[in-house]
Amino acid sequence: MHLTFRQLQVFEAVARHLNYTRAAEELFMTQPAVSGHVRQMEEAAGLPLVEQVGKRLYLTEAGGEVQKAARDVFNRAEDLEMRLADLAGMMRGSLRLAVTTTAEYFAPHLVGSFSRRYPGVEIRLEVSNRERVLERLAGNHEEVAIMGRVPGGANVTGTAFARNPLVMVAPPDHPLVGEAAIPPEWLSDETFLLREPGSGTRLAMEEFFAERGVPLSGSMELGSNETIKQAVMAGLGLSVLSWHTLALERAAGKLAVLDVAGLPLHRHWYAVHLPGKRLSVVAAAFLEFLAGDGADLVERVSFAYGGPEGKPGPSGGTPRDTPN
Ligand code: PGA
Repeated sequence: MHLTFRQLQVFEAVARHLNYTRAAEELFMTQPAVSGHVRQMEEAAGLPLVEQVGKRLYLTEAGGEVQKAARDVFNRAEDLEMRLADLAGMMRGSLRLAVTTTAEYFAPHLVGSFSRRYPGVEIRLEVSNRERVLERLAGNHEEVAIMGRVPGGANVTGTAFARNPLVMVAPPDHPLVGEAAIPPEWLSDETFLLREPGSGTRLAMEEFFAERGVPLSGSMELGSNETIKQAVMAGLGLSVLSWHTLALERAAGKLAVLDVAGLPLHRHWYAVHLPGKRLSVVAAAFLEFLAGDGADLVERVSFAYGGPEGKPGPSGGTPRDTPN
């Protein structure tokens, strides 16, 4: 079977959009030219690669195999370009990075600093919740991810590069503000605001209360850190969020942190990738950059944790480490 790189490109776009017109737009081709390419590939393969049911296009099993192979070929070609640039003494290529929504508060600063160091690198940043980030990593859409906890098992490997304290957020006029070492049971009548299922922050919050036997019964689900912060300010309830989401509201005095016994949860930010995969030159350079400068940059952007009363500012306490 004789396949060209162009045919693979066309097929990959069709498989991603499951729509000839959109694939044609992306590739600046006409729609008949795109479907012509696919037909030629099907003739060469002797098998249908796509199936039209009503108005919808589906990939056949053979089509799924071609899509996977096409992605491998493109990744390999991209990697080759990077390695050749590296041999020529230049850092060129692209970094495909996924971060969890909570990491979006500092990730652009990491990316900014990295691209100032390596101006030849083009960066694509994808932001989703933890579950989706893991799916995308497994599907090879991104090479490296930043997230707040690494799942057990051997599916991914992660290295901690910065701290991630999780704290109890309340409106500034909450009666427990200023109280020290609040027993979690005192909060059993509160409404708690939870992130959506799939969020790492939510998992951590659920575990914290479950371990202490405090039910999260009257809780309300809200789909993002930003919505939760607005809801806490509006007096709808309390929540456990990463310290790194709070810099602006704390500086403006709009949110307070409660000193609850057992909090903050001393978690970390991890750089994660698939263990069996050979990392591109650029991805390896990014991991090295995170290990060297990641912690300082995260704390400069979101401030070091300074205790519940801590003023926002780069000084601050040094929370004890506990494994994630
Ligand atoms: P998330 O991020 O709550 O936005 O998923 C936190 C994490 O990665 O654990």
